[in-house]
Amino acid sequence: MKAWVAKMTEEHLDEDAIRRAGEILKDGGLVAFPTETVYGLGGNALDAEASRKIYAAKGRPSDNPLIVHIARMEDLEIVARNIPDNARKLAQECWPGPLTMILEKTEVVPLATTGGLNTVAVRFPRNRIAQALIQSAGDFVAAPSANTSGRPSPTTAAHVIEDLGDRIDCILDGGMVEIGLESTIVDFTEKTPMILRPGYLNRERLEQILGTVKVDPGILAEEPAVRPKAPGMRYKHYAPKADLTIVEGPEEKVVQKIRELAEEQIARGLTVGIICTDETRRKYSAGDVKSIGARSEEASIARHLYGILREFDGDHVDVIYSEAFDTPKMGQAIMNRLLKAAGHKLIEA
Ligand code: TXA
Ligand code: MG
Repeated sequence: MKAWVAKMTEEHLDEDAIRRAGEILKDGGLVAFPTETVYGLGGNALDAEASRKIYAAKGRPSDNPLIVHIARMEDLEIVARNIPDNARKLAQECWPGPLTMILEKTEVVPLATTGGLNTVAVRFPRNRIAQALIQSAGDFVAAPSANTSGRPSPTTAAHVIEDLGDRIDCILDGGMVEIGLESTIVDFTEKTPMILRPGYLNRERLEQILGTVKVDPGILAEEPAVRPKAPGMRYKHYAPKADLTIVEGPEEKVVQKIRELAEEQIARGLTVGIICTDETRRKYSAGDVKSIGARSEEASIARHLYGILREFDGDHVDVIYSEAFDTPKMGQAIMNRLLKAAGHKLIEA
């Protein structure tokens, strides 16, 4: 089976393709689609068999729950119950958008979708292609990121084709995503709301709306002694084929350190990749040097991170050195993903 691909933009939806894709989902098939965060691999969230197909296509462990995507605020009540007031308030402020909330599930959501849990992850994405697809599919679409398990989340349709092109029915190609990192996950099943996965909506923003918000200690810990609450954050996630190390510190020192390390490795006969920014690009002479974007525009760093990691897998380098990206707003989310990819190898310059 080879997926058919329908290209469109949010401004010019291909209504016919969306209707056909909606039919595929209603019939239990799989459709990949863009959201503002990353591409999702959709199946009917209320159909246990469709959820099983998602796990199989991704090669994902079936105890790692899926996110249920909705496209109307009132549909939250159908999949979740005992919804606390502060969760409603957050939904009002941040939906549609890059926010996923963990709530108590209702009977209509099969355990196959929630990985056996009595809670459900719900998200109302802002992308208009995603919204139109969800509505045409009958309003509830389960979707993990549309990558094979263990690879970076896809930020373009080409990434989806690379990983899943012959395992799913259809791909809606809406071009490159806007944000490039997965949604912020907030758990509302305990007294104080807790961030289970950092994302574009950071702790400061959430605290403006909710008051005190905790961060799951499991996502900050280097050692797996403290288990993250979101099952997906426990798995050894994506690791590039090359050995990745992050170098942190003042810019000049970081550049100098990476240059030294790169030269040492090249002298040993290894090929080296370097992840830098537009500001430092010209300061590196040796190695396969890729700029992630301007440090002054952190959005571009987030948006290009997964794509660059995929490129290096294709380039077959032996080692990669990356500058650290502790940017003001999305720094926590960017560094969370980068540290995981590096297996927490961080050098202070
Ligand atoms: O931005 C996103 O969230 C993207 C787009 C497609 O919406 N989706 C995404 O899904 O990143 P996925 O499956 O790759 O990540 C979902 C995360 C996993 O870490 C999973 O363990 C966690 O959400 N999760 C889902 N349901 C949960 C639950 N009931 N309790 C705790 N964690 C849950
Ligand atoms: Mg994922």
